[in-house]
Amino acid sequence: MFSDLRDFIGHLEEEGELIRVKERLSTCHEIPAAMKFIDQKWGSAAFFEDVQGYDIPVIGNLLGNRKRLEMALSAETDLTNHYLNRTNHPIKPVILDNGPVKEVILGMSFDILKSMPVLTHHEKDAGPYLTAAVTMAKDPNTGVGGMGIHRIQIKGPNRVGILLASPPLSHFFKRFEERGKPMEVAIAIGMDPITFFSSVIWAPKGVDKFDLAGGLKGEAIELVKCESVDLEVPARADFVLEGRILPHKRAKEGPFGESTGVYLTYENPIAEIDIITHRKSPIYHALMPFTGEESVLMGVSWEAENLRAIQKKFPQVVKAHISPLDFGKIIVQIDKKSDEDPKHVIDYVLELNPRNKSAVIIDTDVDIYNPKEVTWALSNRFQPDRDVIIRRDLPGSVIDPSADERHYTSKIGFDATRPLGKKEKFEKVRIPENVWSRVRKILEGYAP
Ligand SMILES: Cc1cc2nc3c(=O)[nH]c(=O)nc-3n(C[C@H](O)[C@H](O)[C@H](O)COP(=O)(O)O)c2cc1C
Repeated sequence: MFSDLRDFIGHLEEEGELIRVKERLSTCHEIPAAMKFIDQKWGSAAFFEDVQGYDIPVIGNLLGNRKRLEMALSAETDLTNHYLNRTNHPIKPVILDNGPVKEVILGMSFDILKSMPVLTHHEKDAGPYLTAAVTMAKDPNTGVGGMGIHRIQIKGPNRVGILLASPPLSHFFKRFEERGKPMEVAIAIGMDPITFFSSVIWAPKGVDKFDLAGGLKGEAIELVKCESVDLEVPARADFVLEGRILPHKRAKEGPFGESTGVYLTYENPIAEIDIITHRKSPIYHALMPFTGEESVLMGVSWEAENLRAIQKKFPQVVKAHISPLDFGKIIVQIDKKSDEDPKHVIDYVLELNPRNKSAVIIDTDVDIYNPKEVTWALSNRFQPDRDVIIRRDLPGSVIDPSADERHYTSKIGFDATRPLGKKEKFEKVRIPENVWSRVRKILEGYAP
């Protein structure tokens, strides 16, 4: 298992999953452009050795494809099963006395932008943004910790703006504001890939994601106490910013080019940073929005958590998959017992998660991971006037520009399953299985 970010980077390099860029590039648009180009052309992680104005390298596209996520998780089975098995056995973190993240402590008159190479990603972005930073806080009611990736705009030497739209942090902050108190936060950048991945999983209420990260790793995550706030952070993180989000203060944050591929501006909370701690030779971790990385990071846990919830109510559901082509679309595979089943499942999943904007229900003979087959089912087993369900006025994603000002949206479901009594009419063509596997074996070594 990888103990920190540099450990994982070394592994990616050995496995041919990383490109080293030696040319000098700037933090303003150039490195983000290179991250996007490398992602589109080779799908690799990208390590920028020479960052203009800094002696700190930048890593991007870290978990940009499922293969690298499998490596990070050391998953030997299918990712959904691996995730479900491991998160069923959470492991509490351990708190160490000291760790590399404390090697350098900046307590007075620092400037965030001089301390780390924060990138400006898209043309109309308001300025530099932390995009792979994990914000950590505690529930003021229970003391249980929570974390998530939140976009963070650098607004001054020690001032930032933050989008707090998702739980658990959005809930914690509401409770702090009700008490009129600031919310202490620690913002960590650069950590082992399992903790990074776990920071955005769709965790059950009241569960600390560090416990789930421990379960996924098979061993306790090592933390250290912060210097100025009552929080714990990964002991081997590259950077940590400690500070407070101010209650009842809002300021313009954005525009920022979001993962949905549009610029979004909000009136958002602001935080003041009191201390920065970092390793002696830190690596700065960034994420390029509107590449595939968000869907890799969030897709696996969403699939698994959606499936876990759906199967409790509908045991006839076999698999769930978030479409990599459309992050708001969930595909559900069902071994239906009645022709009404898919419609009940559609109703349920569209309400289950604000981000499930559309749902497609397919039979077990359709390959859920193959977009061609899902489209085939829609063309051949679906009638628009009979098999569509539209639901209105449901909570949607805050980064969907088509939702209304409350972030409410209409949603759509497609029942692409064949009627139970007419299986033959809808039978999918196939080659005899024994012939298929024999021919595959013969041809596997061939190349054009
Ligand atoms: C790349 C990326 C960026 C994100 N940016 C934000 C953000 O700016 N604000 C926010 O509230 N949530 C953001 N999220 C979502 C949260 O980090 C995360 O999904 C959430 O904490 C999951 O919590 P839940 O289990 O309660 O849904 C982002 C997620 C990813 C993968």
